[in-house]
Amino acid sequence: MKTIRIGKSGITTPTIGMGTWAIGGGTWWGENDDSVSIKAIDCALEQGITWIDTAPVYGFGHSEEVVGKALKGKRGKVILSTKCALQWENEAGSFHFSRDGHAVYRDLSATGIRRDLENSLRRLQTDYIDVLYTHWQSVEPCPTPIQETMGELEKMKKEGKIRAIGASNVNASQIEEYLKYGQLDVIQEKYSMVDRKLEKILLPLCENHDISVQAYSPLEQGLLTGKIGMDYVVKPGEVRDNRKWWVPENRKLVLEMLAGWGDLCQKYESTLGNLAIAWTIARSENINVLCGARKMEQVSENVKAGNIVLEKSDMQRMTDDANRIIGISK
Ligand SMILES: NC(=O)c1ccc[n+]([C@@H]2O[C@H](COP(=O)([O-])OP(=O)(O)OC[C@H]3O[C@@H](n4cnc5c(N)ncnc54)[C@H](OP(=O)(O)O)[C@@H]3O)[C@@H](O)[C@H]2O)c1
Repeated sequence: MKTIRIGKSGITTPTIGMGTWAIGGGTWWGENDDSVSIKAIDCALEQGITWIDTAPVYGFGHSEEVVGKALKGKRGKVILSTKCALQWENEAGSFHFSRDGHAVYRDLSATGIRRDLENSLRRLQTDYIDVLYTHWQSVEPCPTPIQETMGELEKMKKEGKIRAIGASNVNASQIEEYLKYGQLDVIQEKYSMVDRKLEKILLPLCENHDISVQAYSPLEQGLLTGKIGMDYVVKPGEVRDNRKWWVPENRKLVLEMLAGWGDLCQKYESTLGNLAIAWTIARSENINVLCGARKMEQVSENVKAGNIVLEKSDMQRMTDDANRIIGISK
């Protein structure tokens, strides 16, 4: 698999990463057998997917705990990212959402993110994080200046507790602000064939500043694998509830688009999911595609996309097809 640099951090990574939100379980994703999740992480590392991403809020600590168990004795082989700023320990910061009996606040204060880091290090059974992201950015009514957040992140870096600083769910002016106070190496943003908001401003901005992009939900939470039909019933409160492309009218458009790519699957000896991942990798020199997975079979399938090089005309055809359904979607 091709590798890319993560910003100016000196860390390199293969172009596909593994996301472990689903491994956290809870009402977003439903419960998991942790031993299956651990095997999936093992399988990723064995097959060269060495960037493992998690966050405290995924399963309210559970995803980090499972990742910590999976990485025992293998820490040196892994690029481990987690996040800070979404906390449910107290009422500090601005209220973000409630889930599974927890009220979650965005707290980007120096004290808040330091507490989050220490909790993550304990759950992950490690003494350093490769990339620490601010998960969601500060908002009213209890905002924290980026100067304060970045000051603390830079301090963590000097202490050797983190190797690189990332920000997630950011806009252009927030990126510019981060850059005033330190070195921002990577952003983590939603990006898929059918969700292309990133392309207009953030992708070129990051290319100009040597900031890498880690694309999350590249499979639209499984829809772009083509394995989910119209008969799938989205449960209230699950992760796919209220997602644009899971609404039946829009889902039908995606499934029709994918149904037209049988010849591409044959040509590249790939699955539909592989095509979607390969397309996303090819959109920028600077991108890591963060595929969520919780089973070995999913990982083993997804990794194959890392070796697919789509011809220019096929890229264009897929882009045109995606643009067409974006244009007529509800
Ligand atoms: N920064 C943020 O705010 C943010 C937000 C969202 C996600 N993320 C990160 O990005 C990662 C990826 O995003 P995501 O999990 O939302 O979406 P995704 O990668 O588009 O989809 C992941 C889901 O798709 C299904 N899937 C994956 N590979 C498959 C395969 N080969 N065959 C069939 N189904 C397959 C699985 O669902 P089932 O297991 O249910 O079958 C999997 O959990 C997350 O795990 C998380 O680390 C970050």
